[in-house]
Amino acid sequence: MAVVNSWGQVLAMRNANQDDTHRPFGGVVPEIAGRRHMEDLLPLIDQLLEESEISWDEIQGLAVTNRPGLVGSLIVGLVTAKSLALALQKPFLGVHHIEGHVLSGFLSDEPLAQSNVWQEPFLALAVSGGHTHLYHCSSIGTYKELGKTVDDAAGEAFDKLAKMLGIGYPGGLMVDRQAQKGDAKKYAFPRSFIKEDHYNMSFSGLKSSAHRLIHGKQLEEQMISDICASYQEAIVDVLITKLSRAMKEFGLKKMVIAGGVSANSRLRRCAQELAQKEGYELKLPALKYCTDNAAMIGLVGALRLAQGEESEQSLAPHARAPLGPTE
Ligand code: KG4
Ligand code: ZN
Repeated sequence: MAVVNSWGQVLAMRNANQDDTHRPFGGVVPEIAGRRHMEDLLPLIDQLLEESEISWDEIQGLAVTNRPGLVGSLIVGLVTAKSLALALQKPFLGVHHIEGHVLSGFLSDEPLAQSNVWQEPFLALAVSGGHTHLYHCSSIGTYKELGKTVDDAAGEAFDKLAKMLGIGYPGGLMVDRQAQKGDAKKYAFPRSFIKEDHYNMSFSGLKSSAHRLIHGKQLEEQMISDICASYQEAIVDVLITKLSRAMKEFGLKKMVIAGGVSANSRLRRCAQELAQKEGYELKLPALKYCTDNAAMIGLVGALRLAQGEESEQSLAPHARAPLGPTE
């Protein structure tokens, strides 16, 4: 839950984390996730408003993720937002999860003197557990998909490696940590489509290649670190190469990298180096805004509600949906 204004300032945020619940299963169990949302949501709203001393009178509207995602979880959020909107007589808006990630780079905890949201065109790389998409954003709300993964998302590739190595959950963070002690040049993992001039990506070959290397072997600590570092390097190499090529092709000067994988320390460093070398302006969300959070959904809502957009009470959740107009 978060309270955000349309300039990108986060006035309050409280999270409910389910990692401990899902850890024994090595991944998110959809049914359990929905039930936990049901238990956590209303107490969290009360806590947020009480601790931040923000009253409902100060809140102009409600934003909620309605697509894409696990339908059980989406329903809980959607029903809660609709009920509150009805009871409080406030507008509400269903938001695309990935638009939230794209705008998360504009979130700020500090008071702002002006809007933190870019008005000029920019490139956005959204890299999460379910998405690896490159968008050309000519303005907020207008996104053209340049390319995406044709199979696994980058976050999924990180999670699968962590599972294969048995190094813990959440996988991406564990690989990132382990990689810091490893040699990124030790193993030559595939970098699919890296030389091709389209913007699609593929990470399933990388995963199979790691599987072949690891399968049936007793791994020493150093080898695990070297595999993590080399595997991470292959993913980052592909992402940065595609990003850099798109920046040049479209003559852009601004870029955002967002989504759970944008928390990756190697990706952040390489993106900063690229920005410095080419004179690009780069927005990387603060770590707490990289992984899923309510502030990013609130910012999309605040911007769209300010433009007069609003959803109907009949709005449905969608497991899959391309980034496009509100449904
Ligand atoms: O955006 P997010 O919180 O949820 C989705 O919408 O999917 O992203 C979660 C993904 C997971 O696959 C997780 O392993 C990955 O982000 N992730 C990382 C790191 N932190 C989280 N991947 C690489 N390095 C990290 N430090
Ligand atoms: Zn996400």
